[in-house]
Amino acid sequence: MIYLDNAATSFPKPSNVYYEVLNCMKNYAANPGRSSHDMSLKASKKIAEARGEIGSLFNIDNPFNIVFTVNATEAINIAIKGIINKGDHVISTVIEHNSVLRPLNYLENQGAEVSLINVDEYGFIKLEELKSKIKQNTKLIVINHGSNVLGTVQNLDEIGSIAKEKGIVFMVDASQTAGVFDIDVKKSNIGLLAFPGHKGLLGPQGTGALYIQDGIDLKEFISGGTGSNSSEMVQPNFLPDKFESGTLNTPGIAGLCEGIKFIRKTGISNIKKQEENLTEYLLQELKKLTTVKIYGLMDSKNRSSVVSINIGNMDSAKVGYILNKNGIAVRTGFHCAPLIHKVIGTEKFGTVRISLGYFNTFDDIEKLIDAIKYLGNN
Ligand code: ALA
Repeated sequence: MIYLDNAATSFPKPSNVYYEVLNCMKNYAANPGRSSHDMSLKASKKIAEARGEIGSLFNIDNPFNIVFTVNATEAINIAIKGIINKGDHVISTVIEHNSVLRPLNYLENQGAEVSLINVDEYGFIKLEELKSKIKQNTKLIVINHGSNVLGTVQNLDEIGSIAKEKGIVFMVDASQTAGVFDIDVKKSNIGLLAFPGHKGLLGPQGTGALYIQDGIDLKEFISGGTGSNSSEMVQPNFLPDKFESGTLNTPGIAGLCEGIKFIRKTGISNIKKQEENLTEYLLQELKKLTTVKIYGLMDSKNRSSVVSINIGNMDSAKVGYILNKNGIAVRTGFHCAPLIHKVIGTEKFGTVRISLGYFNTFDDIEKLIDAIKYLGNN
Protein backbone atom coordinates (compact mmCIF):
# COMPACT_ATOMS: atom_id res chain seq x y z
CA MET A 1 0.00 0.00 0.00
CA ILE A 2 1.26 3.49 -0.86
CA TYR A 3 0.15 5.35 2.23
CA LEU A 4 -0.81 8.98 1.60
CA ASP A 5 -3.10 9.55 4.60
CA ASN A 6 -0.58 10.91 7.08
CA ALA A 7 -2.86 13.80 8.10
CA ALA A 8 -5.17 11.22 9.66
CA THR A 9 -2.47 9.02 11.22
CA SER A 10 1.17 8.84 10.20
CA PHE A 11 2.44 5.55 8.84
CA PRO A 12 4.93 3.93 9.04
CA LYS A 13 6.63 4.81 12.32
CA PRO A 14 10.34 4.78 13.17
CA SER A 15 11.37 1.24 14.20
CA ASN A 16 12.10 2.25 17.81
CA VAL A 17 8.44 3.21 18.21
CA TYR A 18 7.31 -0.34 17.42
CA TYR A 19 10.06 -1.79 19.56
CA GLU A 20 9.27 0.32 22.61
CA VAL A 21 5.51 -0.38 22.51
CA LEU A 22 6.29 -4.10 22.52
CA ASN A 23 9.08 -3.75 25.07
CA CYS A 24 6.74 -1.86 27.39
CA MET A 25 3.90 -4.35 26.94
CA LYS A 26 6.23 -7.25 27.64
CA ASN A 27 8.42 -5.81 30.39
CA TYR A 28 7.02 -2.81 32.22
CA ALA A 29 3.37 -2.08 31.36
CA ALA A 30 2.38 -1.72 35.01
CA ASN A 31 0.48 1.28 36.43
CA PRO A 32 2.64 4.43 36.43
CA GLY A 33 2.43 6.65 39.52
CA ARG A 34 0.54 4.11 41.59
CA SER A 35 2.75 1.48 43.18
CA SER A 36 6.33 1.44 44.38
CA HIS A 37 7.44 -1.82 42.73
CA ASP A 38 10.08 -1.80 40.02
CA MET A 39 7.71 -2.25 37.08
CA SER A 40 5.50 0.64 38.17
CA LEU A 41 8.56 2.83 38.72
CA LYS A 42 9.87 1.96 35.26
CA ALA A 43 6.50 2.87 33.74
CA SER A 44 6.55 6.20 35.63
CA LYS A 45 10.08 6.88 34.44
CA LYS A 46 9.11 6.35 30.81
CA ILE A 47 6.08 8.63 31.16
CA ALA A 48 8.36 11.29 32.70
CA GLU A 49 10.82 10.86 29.84
CA ALA A 50 8.00 11.36 27.30
CA ARG A 51 6.84 14.50 29.10
CA GLY A 52 10.41 15.79 29.01
CA GLU A 53 10.71 15.07 25.27
CA ILE A 54 7.49 16.99 24.58
CA GLY A 55 8.71 19.86 26.77
CA SER A 56 11.99 20.07 24.83
CA LEU A 57 10.21 20.00 21.46
CA PHE A 58 7.85 22.89 22.25
CA ASN A 59 10.06 24.91 24.63
CA ILE A 60 7.90 24.14 27.67
CA ASP A 61 9.89 24.69 30.88
CA ASN A 62 7.83 22.57 33.24
CA PRO A 63 6.86 19.13 31.88
CA PHE A 64 4.13 18.90 34.55
CA ASN A 65 2.22 21.50 32.52
CA ILE A 66 1.76 18.78 29.88
CA VAL A 67 -1.30 16.57 30.32
CA PHE A 68 -1.54 13.28 28.43
CA THR A 69 -4.82 12.63 26.63
CA VAL A 70 -6.08 9.95 24.25
CA ASN A 71 -5.93 12.26 21.23
CA ALA A 72 -5.99 15.93 20.21
CA THR A 73 -9.80 16.02 20.35
CA GLU A 74 -9.78 15.20 24.05
CA ALA A 75 -7.07 17.80 24.66
CA ILE A 76 -9.11 20.42 22.79
CA ASN A 77 -12.26 19.57 24.75
CA ILE A 78 -10.45 19.82 28.10
CA ALA A 79 -9.13 23.23 27.09
CA ILE A 80 -12.15 24.84 25.45
CA LYS A 81 -14.79 23.53 27.83
CA GLY A 82 -12.48 24.17 30.78
CA ILE A 83 -11.90 27.84 30.12
CA ILE A 84 -15.15 29.17 28.61
CA ASN A 85 -18.16 30.07 30.75
CA LYS A 86 -21.59 31.42 29.91
CA GLY A 87 -21.19 35.00 28.67
CA ASP A 88 -17.57 34.56 27.55
CA HIS A 89 -16.64 35.26 23.94
CA VAL A 90 -14.42 32.98 21.81
CA ILE A 91 -12.89 33.79 18.42
CA SER A 92 -12.08 30.98 16.05
CA THR A 93 -12.15 30.40 12.28
CA VAL A 94 -14.13 28.68 9.54
CA ILE A 95 -11.14 26.49 8.69
CA GLU A 96 -11.30 24.60 12.00
CA HIS A 97 -11.83 20.89 12.39
CA ASN A 98 -14.96 19.62 14.15
CA SER A 99 -12.80 18.89 17.19
CA VAL A 100 -12.91 22.67 17.73
CA LEU A 101 -16.19 23.57 15.99
CA ARG A 102 -18.30 21.05 17.91
CA PRO A 103 -17.13 22.03 21.41
CA LEU A 104 -17.69 25.67 20.39
CA ASN A 105 -21.18 24.84 19.14
CA TYR A 106 -21.88 23.04 22.43
CA LEU A 107 -20.72 26.07 24.42
CA GLU A 108 -22.74 28.45 22.26
CA ASN A 109 -25.82 26.45 23.22
CA GLN A 110 -24.79 26.90 26.87
CA GLY A 111 -24.69 30.71 26.52
CA ALA A 112 -21.16 31.46 25.30
CA GLU A 113 -20.60 33.79 22.34
CA VAL A 114 -18.66 32.48 19.35
CA SER A 115 -17.27 34.43 16.38
CA LEU A 116 -15.81 32.49 13.46
CA ILE A 117 -13.59 34.60 11.24
CA ASN A 118 -13.31 33.95 7.52
CA VAL A 119 -10.36 32.71 5.53
CA ASP A 120 -9.40 33.49 1.95
CA GLU A 121 -9.42 30.85 -0.80
CA TYR A 122 -5.92 29.74 0.30
CA GLY A 123 -7.10 29.29 3.88
CA PHE A 124 -5.42 32.29 5.51
CA ILE A 125 -7.13 34.40 8.15
CA LYS A 126 -6.86 38.19 8.00
CA LEU A 127 -5.33 39.69 11.13
CA GLU A 128 -7.41 42.83 10.73
CA GLU A 129 -10.60 40.77 10.88
CA LEU A 130 -9.31 38.95 13.95
CA LYS A 131 -8.58 42.27 15.67
CA SER A 132 -11.98 43.68 14.72
CA LYS A 133 -13.78 40.78 16.43
CA ILE A 134 -12.11 41.26 19.81
CA LYS A 135 -14.54 42.45 22.49
CA GLN A 136 -14.46 43.22 26.19
CA ASN A 137 -15.53 39.64 27.03
CA THR A 138 -13.23 37.82 24.56
CA LYS A 139 -11.50 35.17 26.63
CA LEU A 140 -10.03 32.85 24.03
CA ILE A 141 -8.68 32.81 20.49
CA VAL A 142 -8.46 29.27 19.13
CA ILE A 143 -6.73 28.65 15.82
CA ASN A 144 -5.86 25.66 13.74
CA HIS A 145 -2.10 25.95 13.04
CA GLY A 146 -2.24 23.77 9.91
CA SER A 147 -5.42 23.04 7.98
CA ASN A 148 -6.28 19.36 7.57
CA VAL A 149 -8.02 20.20 4.27
CA LEU A 150 -5.82 22.81 2.55
CA GLY A 151 -2.55 22.50 4.43
CA THR A 152 -2.54 26.26 5.09
CA VAL A 153 -0.26 27.18 7.99
CA GLN A 154 -1.19 30.30 9.98
CA ASN A 155 1.40 32.64 11.49
CA LEU A 156 1.33 31.85 15.22
CA ASP A 157 3.69 34.65 16.26
CA GLU A 158 1.43 37.34 14.80
CA ILE A 159 -1.76 35.92 16.30
CA GLY A 160 -0.06 35.26 19.64
CA SER A 161 1.16 38.82 19.91
CA ILE A 162 -2.35 40.19 19.27
CA ALA A 163 -3.71 37.88 21.98
CA LYS A 164 -0.98 38.90 24.41
CA GLU A 165 -1.53 42.61 23.80
CA LYS A 166 -5.26 42.21 24.53
CA GLY A 167 -4.81 39.82 27.50
CA ILE A 168 -6.65 36.97 25.73
CA VAL A 169 -5.65 33.31 26.03
CA PHE A 170 -4.23 31.98 22.74
CA MET A 171 -4.98 28.34 22.05
CA VAL A 172 -3.44 26.40 19.16
CA ASP A 173 -4.68 23.17 17.62
CA ALA A 174 -1.41 21.75 16.32
CA SER A 175 -2.90 18.49 15.05
CA GLN A 176 -1.39 18.89 11.59
CA THR A 177 1.90 20.55 12.45
CA ALA A 178 3.30 19.13 15.71
CA GLY A 179 6.47 17.22 14.88
CA VAL A 180 7.03 18.93 11.52
CA PHE A 181 6.83 22.68 12.17
CA ASP A 182 8.82 24.41 14.87
CA ILE A 183 6.37 25.41 17.62
CA ASP A 184 7.64 27.45 20.56
CA VAL A 185 4.99 28.16 23.19
CA LYS A 186 6.95 31.08 24.66
CA LYS A 187 7.85 32.78 21.38
CA SER A 188 4.26 32.54 20.07
CA ASN A 189 2.58 33.36 23.43
CA ILE A 190 0.63 30.11 23.35
CA GLY A 191 -1.42 29.52 26.49
CA LEU A 192 -2.98 26.21 25.44
CA LEU A 193 -1.45 23.81 22.91
CA ALA A 194 -3.33 20.68 21.87
CA PHE A 195 -1.78 17.99 19.70
CA PRO A 196 -2.11 14.30 18.83
CA GLY A 197 0.69 11.78 19.32
CA HIS A 198 -0.18 9.65 16.31
CA LYS A 199 0.36 12.09 13.44
CA GLY A 200 3.53 14.17 13.03
CA LEU A 201 4.90 13.08 16.39
CA LEU A 202 5.07 9.54 14.96
CA GLY A 203 3.62 7.81 18.03
CA PRO A 204 0.84 5.23 18.28
CA GLN A 205 -2.89 6.00 18.16
CA GLY A 206 -4.47 6.62 21.56
CA THR A 207 -1.95 9.31 22.44
CA GLY A 208 -2.18 13.10 22.55
CA ALA A 209 -1.51 15.91 24.97
CA LEU A 210 -2.44 19.37 26.15
CA TYR A 211 0.00 22.02 27.33
CA ILE A 212 -1.52 24.39 29.90
CA GLN A 213 0.41 27.57 30.67
CA ASP A 214 0.89 28.50 34.33
CA GLY A 215 -1.94 30.71 35.51
CA ILE A 216 -4.62 29.24 33.23
CA ASP A 217 -7.14 27.53 35.45
CA LEU A 218 -9.29 25.02 33.57
CA LYS A 219 -12.42 23.41 35.01
CA GLU A 220 -12.28 19.76 36.03
CA PHE A 221 -12.93 17.50 33.04
CA ILE A 222 -12.74 13.93 34.28
CA SER A 223 -12.59 12.87 37.93
CA GLY A 224 -11.08 9.73 39.37
CA GLY A 225 -7.97 8.03 40.70
CA THR A 226 -4.65 9.72 40.06
CA GLY A 227 -2.38 7.89 42.49
CA SER A 228 -1.98 11.20 44.35
CA ASN A 229 -3.95 12.54 47.39
CA SER A 230 -5.64 9.12 47.40
CA SER A 231 -7.10 9.51 50.89
CA GLU A 232 -9.29 12.39 49.67
CA MET A 233 -12.45 12.37 47.57
CA VAL A 234 -11.66 15.64 45.85
CA GLN A 235 -9.84 15.73 42.53
CA PRO A 236 -6.26 17.07 42.91
CA ASN A 237 -5.99 20.64 41.70
CA PHE A 238 -2.41 20.38 40.45
CA LEU A 239 -1.05 19.44 37.03
CA PRO A 240 -0.86 17.01 35.41
CA ASP A 241 -2.94 14.93 37.88
CA LYS A 242 -5.99 17.20 37.66
CA PHE A 243 -6.61 15.92 34.12
CA GLU A 244 -4.97 12.49 34.19
CA SER A 245 -7.45 10.31 36.06
CA GLY A 246 -7.38 6.59 35.40
CA THR A 247 -4.57 4.44 34.08
CA LEU A 248 -2.50 6.15 31.42
CA ASN A 249 -1.76 4.54 28.05
CA THR A 250 1.79 3.62 29.09
CA PRO A 251 2.67 1.52 25.99
CA GLY A 252 1.32 4.27 23.72
CA ILE A 253 3.17 7.01 25.56
CA ALA A 254 6.35 4.89 25.54
CA GLY A 255 6.04 4.65 21.75
CA LEU A 256 5.30 8.37 21.49
CA CYS A 257 8.45 9.09 23.48
CA GLU A 258 10.50 7.23 20.87
CA GLY A 259 8.69 9.02 18.03
CA ILE A 260 9.70 12.39 19.47
CA LYS A 261 13.25 11.20 20.12
CA PHE A 262 13.45 10.24 16.43
CA ILE A 263 12.23 13.72 15.42
CA ARG A 264 14.74 15.47 17.68
CA LYS A 265 17.57 13.23 16.48
CA THR A 266 16.68 13.69 12.80
CA GLY A 267 16.13 17.41 13.29
CA ILE A 268 12.68 18.93 12.88
CA SER A 269 13.99 21.25 10.14
CA ASN A 270 15.19 18.22 8.14
CA ILE A 271 11.77 16.59 8.52
CA LYS A 272 10.08 19.77 7.36
CA LYS A 273 12.48 20.14 4.42
CA GLN A 274 11.84 16.56 3.27
CA GLU A 275 8.04 17.04 3.47
CA GLU A 276 8.36 20.37 1.68
CA ASN A 277 10.36 18.78 -1.17
CA LEU A 278 7.82 15.99 -1.54
CA THR A 279 4.94 18.47 -1.50
CA GLU A 280 6.61 20.71 -4.09
CA TYR A 281 7.09 17.72 -6.40
CA LEU A 282 3.49 16.56 -5.89
CA LEU A 283 2.13 20.03 -6.67
CA GLN A 284 4.36 20.40 -9.73
CA GLU A 285 3.16 17.09 -11.14
CA LEU A 286 -0.50 17.74 -10.30
CA LYS A 287 -0.37 21.13 -11.99
CA LYS A 288 0.53 19.39 -15.28
CA LEU A 289 -2.75 17.44 -15.25
CA THR A 290 -5.57 19.39 -16.86
CA THR A 291 -8.29 17.25 -15.28
CA VAL A 292 -7.06 18.02 -11.75
CA LYS A 293 -8.28 20.95 -9.68
CA ILE A 294 -5.97 21.79 -6.76
CA TYR A 295 -7.42 23.68 -3.77
CA GLY A 296 -5.38 26.11 -1.68
CA LEU A 297 -1.76 27.13 -2.16
CA MET A 298 0.01 26.08 -5.34
CA ASP A 299 3.51 25.88 -3.90
CA SER A 300 5.11 24.37 -0.83
CA LYS A 301 5.68 27.60 1.16
CA ASN A 302 3.55 28.39 4.26
CA ARG A 303 1.80 25.09 3.97
CA SER A 304 2.00 21.59 5.30
CA SER A 305 2.11 18.43 3.20
CA VAL A 306 -1.70 18.19 2.96
CA VAL A 307 -2.99 18.68 -0.61
CA SER A 308 -6.67 18.59 -1.57
CA ILE A 309 -7.76 17.99 -5.17
CA ASN A 310 -10.63 16.85 -7.32
CA ILE A 311 -10.46 15.06 -10.66
CA GLY A 312 -12.90 16.42 -13.23
CA ASN A 313 -16.43 16.07 -11.90
CA MET A 314 -15.80 12.78 -10.16
CA ASP A 315 -17.16 12.23 -6.67
CA SER A 316 -14.17 12.25 -4.30
CA ALA A 317 -15.41 9.04 -2.65
CA LYS A 318 -15.29 7.26 -6.01
CA VAL A 319 -11.75 8.47 -6.64
CA GLY A 320 -10.69 7.23 -3.21
CA TYR A 321 -12.32 3.87 -3.87
CA ILE A 322 -10.49 3.43 -7.18
CA LEU A 323 -7.16 4.60 -5.79
CA ASN A 324 -7.51 2.09 -2.97
CA LYS A 325 -8.11 -0.67 -5.49
CA ASN A 326 -4.79 0.43 -7.01
CA GLY A 327 -3.01 0.18 -3.67
CA ILE A 328 -3.01 3.91 -2.86
CA ALA A 329 -4.46 5.20 0.43
CA VAL A 330 -5.90 8.74 0.53
CA ARG A 331 -8.76 10.31 2.48
CA THR A 332 -11.84 11.63 0.71
CA GLY A 333 -14.92 13.68 1.65
CA PHE A 334 -15.16 16.56 4.10
CA HIS A 335 -12.34 15.64 6.50
CA CYS A 336 -14.43 16.64 9.56
CA ALA A 337 -14.02 20.31 8.62
CA PRO A 338 -17.46 21.30 7.31
CA LEU A 339 -17.17 25.07 6.95
CA ILE A 340 -14.09 25.36 4.75
CA HIS A 341 -15.87 23.54 1.92
CA LYS A 342 -18.19 26.53 1.45
CA VAL A 343 -15.11 28.72 0.94
CA ILE A 344 -13.51 26.47 -1.69
CA GLY A 345 -16.78 25.35 -3.33
CA THR A 346 -16.59 21.66 -2.48
CA GLU A 347 -19.80 21.36 -0.42
CA LYS A 348 -21.16 18.68 -2.74
CA PHE A 349 -18.43 16.06 -3.01
CA GLY A 350 -15.68 17.20 -0.69
CA THR A 351 -12.10 16.65 -1.81
CA VAL A 352 -9.56 13.92 -2.40
CA ARG A 353 -6.90 14.58 0.22
CA ILE A 354 -3.31 13.50 -0.32
CA SER A 355 -1.25 13.87 2.85
CA LEU A 356 2.44 13.08 2.69
CA GLY A 357 4.70 12.07 5.51
CA TYR A 358 8.43 11.98 6.19
CA PHE A 359 8.69 8.36 5.02
CA ASN A 360 7.01 8.88 1.63
CA THR A 361 9.18 8.82 -1.48
CA PHE A 362 9.20 10.54 -4.87
CA ASP A 363 8.37 7.14 -6.32
CA ASP A 364 5.13 7.07 -4.25
CA ILE A 365 4.17 10.38 -5.83
CA GLU A 366 4.95 9.14 -9.35
CA LYS A 367 2.72 6.10 -8.81
CA LEU A 368 -0.09 8.34 -7.56
CA ILE A 369 0.27 10.65 -10.55
CA ASP A 370 0.11 7.66 -12.94
CA ALA A 371 -3.08 6.46 -11.24
CA ILE A 372 -4.64 9.95 -11.42
CA LYS A 373 -3.70 10.26 -15.10
CA TYR A 374 -5.45 6.99 -15.77
CA LEU A 375 -8.53 8.11 -13.81
CA GLY A 376 -8.66 11.48 -15.56
CA ASN A 377 -8.71 9.78 -18.96
CA ASN A 378 -11.50 7.38 -18.10
N1 ALA B 1 -8.40 14.81 11.81
C1 ALA B 1 -7.88 13.73 11.07
C2 ALA B 1 -7.98 13.96 9.59
O1 ALA B 1 -8.07 15.05 9.14
C3 ALA B 1 -8.43 12.44 11.49
O2 ALA B 1 -7.98 13.02 8.85
